[in-house]
Amino acid sequence: MNAHPLEDQLRRPIRDLRISVTDRCNFRCSYCMPRELFGDDYAFMPSSEQLTFEEIERLAGLFVALGVRKLRLTGGEPLLRRNLSGLTARLCKMDGVEDIGLTTNGILLRQHAEALYEAGLRRLNISLDGLDPELFGRINGRGVKPETVLRQIDHAVDTGFEVKVNMVVKRGLNESELLPMAGYFKDRGITLRFIEFMDVGGGNGWSMEHVVTKREMLERLQSVYELEALDRHYFGEVAKRYRYKGSEAQVGFITSVSESFCSSCTRARLSSDGKFYTCLFASGGLDLRRLLRSGADDDSLLAAITEVWEHRADRYSDERTEQTQQQRSKIGMSYIGG
Ligand code: GTP
Ligand code: 5AD
Ligand code: SF4
Ligand code: SF4
Repeated sequence: MNAHPLEDQLRRPIRDLRISVTDRCNFRCSYCMPRELFGDDYAFMPSSEQLTFEEIERLAGLFVALGVRKLRLTGGEPLLRRNLSGLTARLCKMDGVEDIGLTTNGILLRQHAEALYEAGLRRLNISLDGLDPELFGRINGRGVKPETVLRQIDHAVDTGFEVKVNMVVKRGLNESELLPMAGYFKDRGITLRFIEFMDVGGGNGWSMEHVVTKREMLERLQSVYELEALDRHYFGEVAKRYRYKGSEAQVGFITSVSESFCSSCTRARLSSDGKFYTCLFASGGLDLRRLLRSGADDDSLLAAITEVWEHRADRYSDERTEQTQQQRSKIGMSYIGG
């Protein structure tokens, strides 16, 4: 424990670090990297601008020194980063890290699952937005079939991972998949989390009309299943969880829009080019890569991170209205890491 735990303006400690390891992805999900905006000529980040594994490890260590206990590797699609298991092994061994997870679309897991498990990773969150092949192929923008992801989920479970599935629900797109998805994963005892469609980035055409709220999703589920609410696991847990009565299977809701959770938000974010953001909806971040590469020592890096966190007052989802979401220039989800 730190003598004086670092807290922001709303007395929120820094507990989690979401590390984006690449801004690239092999999917083009319509709600995240729409094909019209992320076409063949899209300029992704040159590798010289990406943090090296040594740089990521060093920064992660500094965040841990300030109170971070939980790391999450994201992207883009993190499995596109070469030798990710090497980085994972180093982070898993880091003193003070109590939990580490990886968020992925899953399609490269067959090649990487064993190495990641050997590296010490135990938790995977895998995205899947429906079981209908035509619909899912259209949503992911690459024609990838649900079957492909389902096989990778089975493989991950067989390898020993604790797997959760993330489904973004967007009205008019895939709300018809809610019950089929719930039934499929309930039967397999895999936790499925329904995510309210968010206004991340500038280009996904968000409007409140596209949001299916937790309340509505829950009503639909309860028309078929009996559910009981579970207590949250820890302060700052993002999902609200329920258990299907008479079974161990759970289902969760990530309610950034209808029931925001900013008051317990303990998450910092590091983009793959080394910017430190204090909110998913931030419009700017501290350039830690520049400091690192100009030779800053640990004390000055710690001081810079501390200063930003102490001034943090972000509560974007608490304040969201149709107006704020149109006014603010935000950074893309695939870049900032979800
Ligand atoms: P667990 O540790 O397994 O609970 O992971 P997680 O749910 O925190 O991470 P994951 O990458 O699976 O994210 C699931 C969804 O929650 C994604 O849509 C994220 O964008 C969203 N999310 C995570 N953290 C925040 C946050 O601080 N604010 C908002 N608005 N959404 C978040
Ligand atoms: N709204 C909600 N969730 C989103 N994700 C990506 N874009 C959005 C959005 N606009 C989800 C992905 C993945 C997680 C990291 O974030 O589906 O599961
Ligand atoms: Fe890729 Fe995930 Fe974004 Fe889909 S949601 S485009 S899989 S980063
Ligand atoms: Fe945290 Fe920003 Fe999400 Fe609120 S909107 S929970 S402050 S990341």
